[in-house]
Amino acid sequence: MKEEGVVRKYTLFDDQEMDNTIRPETIEEYIGQTDVKENIKIFVSAAKMRNEPLDHVLLYGPPGLGKTTLAFIIAHEMGTNIKTASGPSIEKSGDLAAILSSLEPGDVLFIDEIHRMPRYIEEILYPAMEDFSLDIVVGGEGNSRNIRIDLPPFTLVGATTRAGDLSSPLRDRFGIVSKLQYYSVSELESIIKRTARVLQVPIEEDAAIELAKRSRGTPRIANRLFKRVRDFALVKNDGVINNEITQEALERLKVDYLGLDNTDHELLLAIINKFNGGPVGIEAIAASIGEEVSTIEDVCEPYLLQIGLIKRTSRGRVATDKAYDLLGISRKK
Ligand SMILES: Nc1ncnc2c1ncn2[C@@H]1O[C@H](COP(=O)(O)OP(=O)(O)OP(=O)(O)O)[C@@H](O)[C@H]1O
Ligand SMILES: [Mg+2]
Repeated sequence: MKEEGVVRKYTLFDDQEMDNTIRPETIEEYIGQTDVKENIKIFVSAAKMRNEPLDHVLLYGPPGLGKTTLAFIIAHEMGTNIKTASGPSIEKSGDLAAILSSLEPGDVLFIDEIHRMPRYIEEILYPAMEDFSLDIVVGGEGNSRNIRIDLPPFTLVGATTRAGDLSSPLRDRFGIVSKLQYYSVSELESIIKRTARVLQVPIEEDAAIELAKRSRGTPRIANRLFKRVRDFALVKNDGVINNEITQEALERLKVDYLGLDNTDHELLLAIINKFNGGPVGIEAIAASIGEEVSTIEDVCEPYLLQIGLIKRTSRGRVATDKAYDLLGISRKK
């Protein structure tokens, strides 16, 4: 049962305006992801020294970890423009041809959700990525012919939450493949403090740490919770975010001390109570709690796996002892 009025913290859309203000623009402002960042810095410097565009980059990892942000930062660091598209919006080969032929030398083309691009469209990308050329068919029935158009050198940055859904010919054409990791509590604390600074909201140290702990390793969630707590603080504490206000707000938002919300709890309870702890298939779990399989796979599950509340086995998902402890349920013998 879903409770009314509970803020679903993983809605995929953010308050656009606030998002744009707090999104870091330079690689120095981008907190965490140290390995990915260091590598990108080196590749960017080398590309600039050679006066060539950066090699194509594939960024993958769970939602809200900063893939789009990093794509924009890459363009910023290269000193080039960025054009954006998303996999599902490219429906016809002409759509992609139009995007590619609008590129200027050195541009970054960012394709979000690149795993959702139809396969026949992907095939147009192969020569574009490899040789900066576009093969198109012109003319109608009977007298069609292929022509090849040269494209300016560009960098494709692809982002996906599902690297496994990408075809291997496409994956292999990215020279730089980076997986974004969940953020540590101290990294999230820095992100929250940065957001507070940018939005000029006072936040006390222990409140920032508490928020960080409950943000599921995810900057987008950290910023979203911050925004809600800010409202509570405004109404109840002259706008100052302290620990007490934070605890109260998070309690009301039904975010537990691990950052789990109702859906996570329902999922764990379903595995334990309805399927005797598992193993159980993802479809059965999804049906029993009324969620989409893709939401569970992309949003809930990666974090529950990461913090060891569920395990994935060949026969399905299993609730761990830690999950039983968290919910205060003892295993049936
Ligand atoms: N490393 C970071 N440092 C500071 N803020 C960050 C960082 N990464 C992400 N953010 C913040 O988190 C928000 C979400 O990031 P972003 O939109 O880039 O995630 P994403 O990985 O593209 O998510 P999705 O898979 O849903 O497209 C951004 O608006 C940004 O403000
Ligand atoms: Mg994104």
